[in-house]
Amino acid sequence: MQPPTETPNEGLSDVTRNIVDEITGHRRMRRNRKADWTRRLVQENRLTVDDLIWPVFVVPGTNVVDPVAAMPGVSRMSIDRLVGAAKEAADLGIPAIATFPNVDMALRDETGSNSLAADNLINAATRALKAHVPQIGVITDVALDPFTSHGHDGILRDGVIVNDETVEQIARAAVVQADAGADIIAPSEMMDGRVGAIRRALDDAGHQSVGIMSYATKFASAFYGPYREAIGTGGLLKGDKKTYYIDPANGTEALRDAALDVEEGADMLMVKPGLPYLDICWRMKDAFGLPVFAYQVSGEYAQIKAAAANGWIDGDRVMMETLLAFKRAGCDGILTYFA
Ligand code: PBG
Repeated sequence: MQPPTETPNEGLSDVTRNIVDEITGHRRMRRNRKADWTRRLVQENRLTVDDLIWPVFVVPGTNVVDPVAAMPGVSRMSIDRLVGAAKEAADLGIPAIATFPNVDMALRDETGSNSLAADNLINAATRALKAHVPQIGVITDVALDPFTSHGHDGILRDGVIVNDETVEQIARAAVVQADAGADIIAPSEMMDGRVGAIRRALDDAGHQSVGIMSYATKFASAFYGPYREAIGTGGLLKGDKKTYYIDPANGTEALRDAALDVEEGADMLMVKPGLPYLDICWRMKDAFGLPVFAYQVSGEYAQIKAAAANGWIDGDRVMMETLLAFKRAGCDGILTYFA
């Protein structure tokens, strides 16, 4: 339905019309907004299914679909169910999924040693996905948090997350993940030197074609809460991650951190969380020209779902608006639970 076209002279004194014309110099922005067809013609950014990466949670067992309380509509799935869901996603045209394991508590330890097991949950998921849904890209996170008994992303020694030892382990874990068939390795633990170390380890193991999507700028954010519930680290985590994630106050530092990842060989960059950090997306795209992805994280998803459930916002429209905002901010795609 077309809105009635405004006839500017009707009911207007010449004085008012002249004032507006004088102020605008006859430049009226609303001309391009006047109808659906003009709006479509001038639309600068579009969201398509090609922009989406779907993050999924994997649990042990078979035929398990276990809802995440703080993320309505999101469930942890056993590998058999994940394969079915991934097939559906591929049929819809979603290019890639990102897998996050909820590892058996008995397998978690101080150093996250299960991250190196060839048949651990995340690697078993990758193998199943590659066997049954080869057309979808598989992106795996190499941080240690799903595997550690303390919920930190690295190895904890005397209360400190030790950098170099963690880097050595995640580089090895990355090779194990690539051996399982991962297409892209996504380091999310913000250790120094990790991208270069992973690149070298992958190349040494003959995995030249496996890419690295660096969580280049990952902020010490309060928006990760529901995710920690989903992978079962929420209750475990002692302290916070401020000694390795970036302070939400710092934009220039984030750019410097991303620059190092670019030098070390990252193929794609990620900004996380998403919406509160659109300025970082834009600056990164502008600075490096590499593909930039935003991770619309669990807390961002939960906010929208909660407000929509209360009838306070139109959830679908807010979802689409946020996703389009990422495109406008220069992102090439979005990791989103809405995928
Ligand atoms: C940690 C990791 C986090 C997320 C993905 N990998 C954050 C954390 O718990 O510190 C968060 C994703 C989300 O909130 O949706 N390696």
